Amino acid sequence: MARPLPLDGRTALITGGARGIGAATAADLARRGAAVTIVDRDGEVAQHTAAALVAQGLAVTARACDITDAARIAALAAALPTLDILVNNAAILDATPIGRLDRATFETVQQVNQNAALWVTLAMLGHLRASGRGRVVNIASIMGLRGSADSVAYSTAKGGLVNMTRALAVDLAPDGILVNCVCPGFVDTRMALLPDGSGHEHQTEWFRDIYIRYGRVPLRRAALPDEIARAIAFFCGDDCVYVTGQVLSVDGGLSATF
Ligand SMILES: NC(=O)c1ccc[n+]([C@@H]2O[C@H](COP(=O)([O-])OP(=O)(O)OC[C@H]3O[C@@H](n4cnc5c(N)ncnc54)[C@H](O)[C@@H]3O)[C@@H](O)[C@H]2O)c1
Repeated sequence: MARPLPLDGRTALITGGARGIGAATAADLARRGAAVTIVDRDGEVAQHTAAALVAQGLAVTARACDITDAARIAALAAALPTLDILVNNAAILDATPIGRLDRATFETVQQVNQNAALWVTLAMLGHLRASGRGRVVNIASIMGLRGSADSVAYSTAKGGLVNMTRALAVDLAPDGILVNCVCPGFVDTRMALLPDGSGHEHQTEWFRDIYIRYGRVPLRRAALPDEIARAIAFFCGDDCVYVTGQVLSVDGGLSATF
């Protein structure tokens, strides 16, 4: 008889699960036994990702949904029979230089990267409470812990998400819901593609020099999405029982040095 898997009987929702870290997390949690729903504003890619995972025998379904659309999120909450695990992963990159940053850009980035994580969590709260073992994992960034050039909108949102994690952890503790945060460093995904289409940021001369040659990333490489997914899985499962409101950098040691 097959041995039970650690997340057998659990349901998980991953925002931005069509690709990158979200898709890797969908695969990881499903391999651990969870029935996973991925939502993404890019519905076609989400369907394709789910189909590829189903072909591997995993329980994954996809829905097209923009996480800033409150009505669609409410409909999603109503459609889900249960929810034990929520991974707030969807985000957009913004690298507008401070001199060109306008109000609309700044506010859009806050809405997608920070505010939507709160509204999705609150929309799913009934399910997470009913679960009795609810887990929320917010995906922030090293840029939510540090400042860097041309990152005011993105870094502000991610920094907000980091501290929102702590505040939510306090408020949801009485419901037995654990809320934690993962801060990736450099990860090999579409988000790390250079705007001019010339490749990934970690393939550039400056990355090789600063982060690899001089060891600003002590592990001397960018992460694979699956390496972030495994840290997320810790916060989703039963090995995480007395940990809430915590922020884990998964960055190859980047934040340990200067
Ligand atoms: N790639 C990196 O180097 C890196 C580093 C630090 C943090 N992160 C964070 O990790 C998370 C995943 O990033 P990734 O690298 O996999 O990015 P990605 O661009 O590969 O994937 C993000 C997904 O989110 C979806 N999405 C964006 N806005 C949405 C919305 N409004 N509604 C629904 N879906 C939406 C996109 O369609 C996409 O499929 C993000 O929160 C990102 O900020 C990434």
